[in-house]
Amino acid sequence: MFNAPHAGIDPFAVTVRGIGEAHPAHAALRALGPIVRADAPAGGQVWIVTDYALAREVLTHPGIVKDPAYAPVEWDPRTAGLEPAAAAQPSLTTLDGAAHEALRRAHAPLFTARRMHDYSARITTIARELLTGLAAAGGTVDLMADFATRFPLSVVCDLLGVPLDRVDQAIVACRRMYSDNPEEVGMAMAMFAELAAAALQGGRDGLAVELRERVPDELTDAQVHYLLFTLIYAGQLTTDAALGFLLAYVLDADRDRADRDRADRDISDRIATGELVLDALRRHPPAPFTLWRFTATDIELAGVRLPARSPVLVDIQGINTDPGRSSGPDLTFGAGPHYCTGAQLAQLELGAIVDVLRNDFPGARLAVPFAELRQVGVGGIQGSRLTALPITLRG
Ligand code: HEM
Repeated sequence: MFNAPHAGIDPFAVTVRGIGEAHPAHAALRALGPIVRADAPAGGQVWIVTDYALAREVLTHPGIVKDPAYAPVEWDPRTAGLEPAAAAQPSLTTLDGAAHEALRRAHAPLFTARRMHDYSARITTIARELLTGLAAAGGTVDLMADFATRFPLSVVCDLLGVPLDRVDQAIVACRRMYSDNPEEVGMAMAMFAELAAAALQGGRDGLAVELRERVPDELTDAQVHYLLFTLIYAGQLTTDAALGFLLAYVLDADRDRADRDRADRDISDRIATGELVLDALRRHPPAPFTLWRFTATDIELAGVRLPARSPVLVDIQGINTDPGRSSGPDLTFGAGPHYCTGAQLAQLELGAIVDVLRNDFPGARLAVPFAELRQVGVGGIQGSRLTALPITLRG
């Protein structure tokens, strides 16, 4: 058994780069081997898996768990950005094993492909209303400031049954989650609890009410509110970041092409099959790493011994973009028991916005050259987001 090589690069640093510039850490980590050590932002080491087959092993390994109760003892849960331990706050993102399976069974029927497909016309309506509202003001609009956060939050609130006049509150709550100040984060969590309570009020008929009926009876109101918070926040954070890259590629795709008709047909085919969406997600996965996992006992992975309580991440972006990967689907939405609950919903949302933009706003154009678009990686395990996406909607 040997020790994993240590990365000389910080994969969790804040970065600002051009839209086409790859984050330097992923290729560097991959070059070091299938499992690599790096300095963890909360102290000590983290083991990062860069190989597809080993990633699948990690994502299904019974001895590698999500419960923050197994985090390194020296980690401060707040600065490490950890959720409460599963015993205090059961959640899809922190439970493991049978308890996790039970909670998945409660969620699964609400987010199936068929269920989401039935809802797709509503998603399109929301996209159309929001873009039409922006177009009415005329001139240049910044989709990252005025649309990317509001659209996925409007969809997820509508789906869950949170009244849509609460979307502004949801936007504020999501933005406060980025704060380093624990009081601000506490205020955000209180706002999320209010949104959840509003969705559960008598007379509401969204998925929140259905979910409450399906989860184990012993869950308290506050615990059900936390489950709804997870859906709202996970639904915003990821789709918000993906939207900017996707729409930038769509708007750039047929610009200045000599053979516009052909370019238009090519992109239409790729949109129809969902390929364009998956391709943007492959290159810019909103979750470049999985969420934190920890070894529950001493284990061995690819000949490397990991002591109990070792933090483990899978490098989703590195594996997605590995030129040497010969098989297997992308890991954009994870794999195994914690595979993304909202994968169908997210792909429908992204597909809907591309359709609405192209069909209802055929004159939409980037207001700056594509190459000038910048992305910022906020650091830690979070993904990158465009700093701005200025466009004119009516051409
Ligand atoms: C493009 C958009 C999205 C991406 C790329 C994405 C990505 C992911 C990934 C990689 C995981 C697994 C994390 C891990 O194993 O550590 C995950 C889990 C999850 N996602 Fe998403 N997600 C997206 C949209 C959504 C939406 C719209 C929702 C809301 C309905 C959502 C809800 C969740 C939940 C609840 C989990 C936890 C599942 C579990 O642990 O059992 N996601 N997502």
